[in-house]
Amino acid sequence: MKVAVSFLSSDNYEDGIKKINESSADLIHADYMDGIFVDNQTFTIPELKKWIKGVNKPVDIHLMATSPNKYIRDLVKIPEINTIIIHAESHRHPIDVINMINHTGKKSGIAINPETKVVHIIPYLKKLDKVLIMSVKPGAGGQAFMKDVLYKVATLLDIKKEGGYHFTISIDGGVNDETIKLCQEAKLDEIVSGSYVMKSSSIEDAIKKLR
Ligand code: DX5
Ligand code: ZN
Repeated sequence: MKVAVSFLSSDNYEDGIKKINESSADLIHADYMDGIFVDNQTFTIPELKKWIKGVNKPVDIHLMATSPNKYIRDLVKIPEINTIIIHAESHRHPIDVINMINHTGKKSGIAINPETKVVHIIPYLKKLDKVLIMSVKPGAGGQAFMKDVLYKVATLLDIKKEGGYHFTISIDGGVNDETIKLCQEAKLDEIVSGSYVMKSSSIEDAIKKLR
């Protein structure tokens, strides 16, 4: 299972990114929050661009923002960014934004809040590279894992098989050395972990426990 690490809970984001980049994590997960879609605000896109310059791991940007379309132009200019993940709940026509992202050559992803059902994203699945199932309410790190969302993995796996789609299935929020067992059983492709990894005494040991 691939491990993406979020630097959201590190005291200093730039420092957190450096630590993840030097670890065995597969991906760097950047949580962008605009203060509208969620209450918190994290960093600006120019700041992120500066911090991730030259990293040797792919960066996923998780846009917790309304009107995600307005960020795409700037994000495509950042070579380190691999996948742009928008929220299904953040735009009236997510397909327009997904098409926009795909057109740029970047990979596209969609995140779904705990209360959002898979049925809402079925029309987009053939065009997506990643589906990010939220296992916490978006907006903050350090929350408890909501295991009730795990049924979505099985639904997505069925649709993926039937349609011959290629998207990766990932989960975000509350993943630690305990909840990872449920993620493994559910046959997720990837997990995102923030506070468990970043707040442990050894990032490397924590990542190993999640594999
Ligand atoms: C929540 C973020 C997550 C979060 C993960 O809004 O999308 O990426 O940082 O952090 P933990 O692992 O602490 O839940
Ligand atoms: Zn996230």
